[in-house]
Amino acid sequence: MDNRPIGVFDSGLGGLTAVRELCRLLPEEDIVYFGDTGRVPYGSRSRETIVKYARQDVAFLRTFDLKAIVIACGTVSTTALDTLAAENPIPVLGVVVPAAKAAAEATHNGTIGLIGTQASIRSGAYERCIQTQRPGTVVLAQPCPLFVPLVENGRFHRGDVVIETVAAEYLQPLKQAGVDTLVLGCTHYPLLEEVISDYMGPEVTLINAGAAGARAVADRLRETDALASRKEGGSCRCFVSDRQEDFARIASTFLGWDVSGAVGQIDIS
Ligand code: SIN
Repeated sequence: MDNRPIGVFDSGLGGLTAVRELCRLLPEEDIVYFGDTGRVPYGSRSRETIVKYARQDVAFLRTFDLKAIVIACGTVSTTALDTLAAENPIPVLGVVVPAAKAAAEATHNGTIGLIGTQASIRSGAYERCIQTQRPGTVVLAQPCPLFVPLVENGRFHRGDVVIETVAAEYLQPLKQAGVDTLVLGCTHYPLLEEVISDYMGPEVTLINAGAAGARAVADRLRETDALASRKEGGSCRCFVSDRQEDFARIASTFLGWDVSGAVGQIDIS
């Protein structure tokens, strides 16, 4: 048993897709979340900058006495997981392997689509993991650089003509190629699940990298006897580096409870 909090971070609000699943699976856990809303997006930046930002995010989270850190960001998971895991004495877990495993299990026709940021696609990390899980799979990768800024600005709802137009442009080649499974390789993208599913059709299985990562964390804590045990439910404290009120508003809608009293703003640099 370990009642210390789990630290979760992302470049912005996308990591809440992992938090929502963690809270569902492990309601007794305390969570400390950091979203780097002042410097989002990470996915269009160089490897050096992504590693630098990720180290600062982890250093902030480690001011809390944590039992594990979840990189709830596709870009950091594809680019800096090994570095962060080697530098920290507590488990540091990412979203790539869990999402790749889920996709390899879900596909029937062996043709998987992958959408992510430019940095994630450039790293080739998802493709390598999918090939390890299921050799010979065809993986069609498509960077979607406009998705994160649109999501961060609240433009992720079905019926929003801007996001629907952008989604159609990005997804058209994957639909045409007949993928039967699509990895949402950036944790912001599950907020676009309705828009993406409307375009791809119900026969395409969408893999939510944030939720897959959260399930892997739950398994790891269970296997290592590190789950929390308390009578009352756990807490979720959030910190951001900018636009605290915007984050609180979108997070409250997405998580389904009012987080406005539990969001702090810090200077991450
Ligand atoms: C970004 O900040 O560009 C996206 C984060 C992610 O890849 O999950």
